[in-house]
This record gives sequence, structure tokens and C-alpha cells, in this order.
Amino acid sequence: MGLFGLLFLAFSSALVLHFNLSTAQTHVTEFCLGGNYTTNSTFQADLSILLSSMSNNNSTSRNNTRFFTNTVRRNSDGVYGLFQCRGDYTSEDCKNCAKTATEEVTNRCPFKKETVLFYDECLLHYSDKNFIYNLQLDPAVFLVNSVDISNADQFTPRLNTLMEGIVARALSNSSSLFAVGKSYFTSSKNISGLAQCTQDISTTDCGRCLNRSISQLSCCDTKQGGQVIKPSCIVRFEIYNFFGPEAIIPALPPAPAPPPPPTPITAPPITARSYG
Ligand SMILES: *[C@@H]1O[C@H](CO)[C@@H](O)[C@H](O)[C@H]1NC(C)=O
Ligand SMILES: *[C@@H]1O[C@H](CO)[C@@H](O)[C@H](O)[C@H]1NC(C)=O
Ligand SMILES: *[C@@H]1O[C@H](CO)[C@@H](O)[C@H](O)[C@H]1NC(C)=O
Ligand SMILES: *[C@@H]1O[C@H](CO)[C@@H](O)[C@H](O)[C@H]1NC(C)=O
Ligand SMILES: *[C@@H]1O[C@H](CO)[C@@H](O)[C@H](O)[C@H]1NC(C)=O
Ligand SMILES: *[C@@H]1O[C@H](CO)[C@@H](O)[C@H](O)[C@H]1NC(C)=O
Ligand SMILES: *[C@@H]1O[C@H](CO)[C@@H](O)[C@H](O)[C@H]1NC(C)=O
Ligand SMILES: *[C@@H]1O[C@H](CO)[C@@H](O)[C@H](O)[C@H]1NC(C)=O
Repeated sequence: MGLFGLLFLAFSSALVLHFNLSTAQTHVTEFCLGGNYTTNSTFQADLSILLSSMSNNNSTSRNNTRFFTNTVRRNSDGVYGLFQCRGDYTSEDCKNCAKTATEEVTNRCPFKKETVLFYDECLLHYSDKNFIYNLQLDPAVFLVNSVDISNADQFTPRLNTLMEGIVARALSNSSSLFAVGKSYFTSSKNISGLAQCTQDISTTDCGRCLNRSISQLSCCDTKQGGQVIKPSCIVRFEIYNFFGPEAIIPALPPAPAPPPPPTPITAPPITARSYG
């Protein structure tokens, strides 16, 4: 193979890699809940209508909102759906995630009457019960980066302060219920944190969900990363930047002052003594 061939290969694999990076949604977890529906049931047909409306609903980009709900009810039973995009991703990412989530959800939890499916970029929740506007703290999953932090005694208090500040900012904007933030940790590492509620619940309920979740982050506060995931809210921290392209990160608090230089020991004058 000549030089041209090699260059072409290198170029095309770079293209493929770029394509994957910009379109792939990162799957996180799912909750497969409720009873089972059966093949060809009314529920299956209603769910299929709901999912296709959610996959091509332009509400994610209209108004630049990252949230919408929909209901399909053709008889007494219905199916309810909610889509929430993470606040730091673009509306293009939201649309891609809505497409992936609606395609994948019935493979991740086949024949379940309720599913909550989480990606880094978005979550999709459907159910045979009307859950919209209701705080849901269960089920919950904790995801822990198993690598220990080296100086946990300094890390843990900084993490707690950071997450409390992020929750306060998420609650201060009732139209987003989302915030990210960073805190200085060491000269080579900052802590990055995130909190978000689904936009159907009230600010008060969002506070309940986030407060409970950040206290549960004590599962992981000597580790390099952790997440608490519930149907109504998520919290996460890492010692690297995991934010999407539209994150609005407030300025870091100043790095703590270096420890004072050791006090010089005032040694008594040496009296020379000769011996020998
Ligand atoms: C639902 O289906 C799964 C897998 O087919 C089965 O294990 C489970 O027992 C069923 N649950 C109910 C409530 O019927
Ligand atoms: C479901 O409907 C399809 C198309 O009408 C039919 O071919 C299939 O046998 C049905 N399956 C069951 C389990 O009823
Ligand atoms: C999009 O979502 C809105 C709000 O939930 C709903 O009223 C509308 O019917 C949906 N559009 C489509 C094409 O499904
Ligand atoms: C979504 O919006 C874009 C631009 O506004 C439009 O071109 C597209 O046809 C819309 N898609 C659907 C399914 O409504
Ligand atoms: C867009 O925002 C306006 C004002 O905030 C609101 O009245 C309208 O219902 C929103 N439209 C959609 C499609 O969400
Ligand atoms: C609150 O959130 C909305 C929606 O994300 C955003 O447009 C607005 O700028 C935010 N307000 C403040 C004060 O940050
Ligand atoms: C941590 O944040 C500070 C302030 O923004 C920045 O100067 C520094 O480069 C960051 N450190 C790392 C490792 O990202
Ligand atoms: C959450 O915690 C903050 C700080 O401790 C507090 O101000 C707020 O009232 C709490 N909210 C709820 C709903 O518990």
C-alpha cells in the first residue's frame, strides 16, 4: 500500500471516530419497573405512539427547553411519558438523545409497564401511571468510581461545600432546576459537580430530592467520583471535567492559601567547646 493509501486510512478512521463521539449517547443505567404488558396489547400500541411522538417532537429545541411530557390515552388506561435533557448539553444533543432513548427503551426493559432510562445526556421515563409532577425518590442507584482519593481529609469537606452550593444554585432557578460548579482541590485537580431535577416537580420537592441525594453522596466522598440517580433527580461529582458543551461554570473560589512557612527554630547560640 502506497503512502496515499495509508494517509487515507488514517484520515477515514479519524472521521469515524469523530462521528461516533459527536452522536453517541452514553448509557448510564435504567430502572425496569411495574408489571408486564403483553404482545399486541393496547398498552403496547399506546406506548409505541408515545415513543414515536417523543422521538420527533421538536419541543426540545423550540424555546430552547430541554424538557417535555406527553400522554397517550385512547381508552381508560393511558401511558405517560417524560423526557429531560441535561442542562449542559446542546439542543442538538437533546434531539439525538431523545431519538436514541426512544429506540432503546424497549430493548433495555422489554415488556415493562414502567421504565426510567438514563444517559449522560438525557433521561426518558414512561409509565402506565401518571407520575408527572410527583416526586419520586425511589428506586435509587449509587454509582461509585472505586479509585480512592489520596487526601480524603481535605477532599471530603471541599466536596460537601461544593455540592451544597450547587444545590442552592439549582434551586434558585425554578425554570431550570439545574446547576454545575467546580472547586479547587489540588494544583493538578479540580472537583466538578452537578445537580439536576426533572422540570415537572416543584422547587420544594427538588430540594428534598437533591438534599437527600447529596447526603447519600457520603457513599463516595473518599472516592474519585460518585453519582446518585433517582427518577426525579441526579447528582454527580468527579475529579475531572465531565460537563457538556453548554455548562455555565461560576468562577472558582480562590485556591486556599498555602500553609504558612514553618516558624524558624531559634536555636540557642552554640558555644564552642574544644576537646581532646
Ligand atoms: C414479567 O416478565 C418477566 C420476564 O418475562 C418475568 O420474569 C416476570 O415474572 C414477569 N412479571 C410479572 C409481574 O408478571
Ligand atoms: C401480534 O400481531 C401480529 C400482527 O397482527 C400477528 O402476526 C402476531 O401473531 C400477533 N402476536 C401475538 C402474540 O398475538
Ligand atoms: C409534542 O409534545 C407536545 C407537548 O407534550 C404535544 O402536545 C404534541 O402533540 C407533540 N407533538 C408530536 C408531533 O407528537
Ligand atoms: C423540527 O424542526 C426543524 C426545524 O425547525 C424542522 O426542519 C423539522 O421538520 C422538524 N421536525 C419535526 C419532526 O417536526
Ligand atoms: C415557550 O415559552 C413561552 C414563554 O415562556 C410559553 O408561553 C410557551 O408555552 C412555550 N412554548 C412551548 C412549545 O413550550
Ligand atoms: C434560569 O434557567 C433558564 C433556563 O435554563 C435560563 O434561560 C436562565 O438564564 C436562568 N436564569 C438564571 C438567573 O441563571
Ligand atoms: C482548576 O481551576 C483553576 C481556576 O479556574 C484553573 O486555573 C486550573 O487550571 C484548574 N486546574 C485543572 C487541573 O483543571
Ligand atoms: C436543603 O438544604 C438546604 C441547606 O441545608 C436548606 O436551605 C433547604 O431548606 C433544604 N431544602 C429542603 C427541601 O429540605
